[in-house]
Amino acid sequence: MKNILVTGGAGFIGSNYINHILKERDDYFIVNLDKLSYAGNLENLKESESNPRYKFVKGDITNSELVEYLFSKYEIKHVINFAAESHVDRSILGSEIFYRTNVIGTNVLLEVSRRFEVEKFVQISTDEVYGSLGPEGLFTEKTPLDPSSPYSSSKAGADIMALAFFHTYGMPVTVTRCSNNYGPFQFPEKLIPLMIINSLNNKNLPVYGDGLNVRDWIYVIDHNKAVDLVFEKGVPGQVYNIGASNEMTNINIIKLILQILGKPDSLIQYVKDRPGHDRRYAIDASKIENELGWKPSFNFETAIESTIKWYIDNKLWWDRIISGEYQKYYSLQYSVK
Ligand code: NAD
Ligand code: DAU
Repeated sequence: MKNILVTGGAGFIGSNYINHILKERDDYFIVNLDKLSYAGNLENLKESESNPRYKFVKGDITNSELVEYLFSKYEIKHVINFAAESHVDRSILGSEIFYRTNVIGTNVLLEVSRRFEVEKFVQISTDEVYGSLGPEGLFTEKTPLDPSSPYSSSKAGADIMALAFFHTYGMPVTVTRCSNNYGPFQFPEKLIPLMIINSLNNKNLPVYGDGLNVRDWIYVIDHNKAVDLVFEKGVPGQVYNIGASNEMTNINIIKLILQILGKPDSLIQYVKDRPGHDRRYAIDASKIENELGWKPSFNFETAIESTIKWYIDNKLWWDRIISGEYQKYYSLQYSVK
């Protein structure tokens, strides 16, 4: 049995990872450490909660005593660190918690992992650490890091810290840098779920700037299959880009969502741009494809339709979210624009 500490497993990508991987692997025992921030939701994990190979612990990755206790109690030998403050707009509203969780929290996990001589440590980083591309070119693993937001700079700090633990202590660290994910259980502050839910509620769809910023979209399960491959076969000290070669402008995504839902384009509302808004992200994933044999298996047209259907079918899930604290965030973020 592999005893794995998965952090941030109640969030969007982490919960999809746990639900997926417990079905795929019968030799994984997963301890999910999550502080249940606004983005953490145990409802995402209903299908896993009674699995004997799964244990949830509510707690903060910055709490080194707790992390040490979990390592001892569950004989942890592997770590996959998804836990993070993950939203760029929130990092612009206030950055302190981003550095606390993303940098200090990762440092706590690395230090405890070092003491307990872990066999694998996968740091979930992001393509945002590379900064912004012009109209041409792709991010490779050799692209210099040039993060633009408090969020991406905190992720870059964690990313190179993890690599430094490999160089200095020989710790078996791997780093993944993935592009924009979409799929079930994504918190409706992010572009795709926000636009789906606002469309369903006949609310305006706030498009930053000219709407021509480009993101490279990947279905969350494809990302998680790549994470598992890096976990199983990744070479210590290496970085792996993950992306599905699916570049789209924001406005085209929004128009597609409106079209699928049969809603009018008049819901689109151009608003003030995000400060420091990265223009374009696009991933060269040839390293993970050639070296580890990964390939995305979901096609955008069908996976976006099934994602939209998931939000239609799971109104209760997002109604609970948008009726709470979310309203305060939404007016802070959008009413001043
Ligand atoms: P999310 O915001 O949906 O989930 C983050 C989870 O981390 C939540 O469950 C939250 O409660 C937990 N968390 C936050 N602070 C914590 C702390 N101090 N201690 C313990 N748990 C804590 O984020 P996501 O979109 O699922 O992203 C997961 C990871 O993947 C992040 O590291 C993010 O940087 C990275 N990533 C995300 C994307 C994307 O498109 N969403 C793309 C590439 C990489
Ligand atoms: O690239 C990977 C990153 O993708 C992850 O590391 C982050 O955790 C994740 O949040 C995501 O960051 P983005 O900033 O690209 O995602 P977001 O969904 O916030 O925005 C996507 C694009 O849509 C971006 O160009 C900004 C734009 N946007 C977003 C929102 C929320 C709008 O035009 N209007 C909006 O209301």
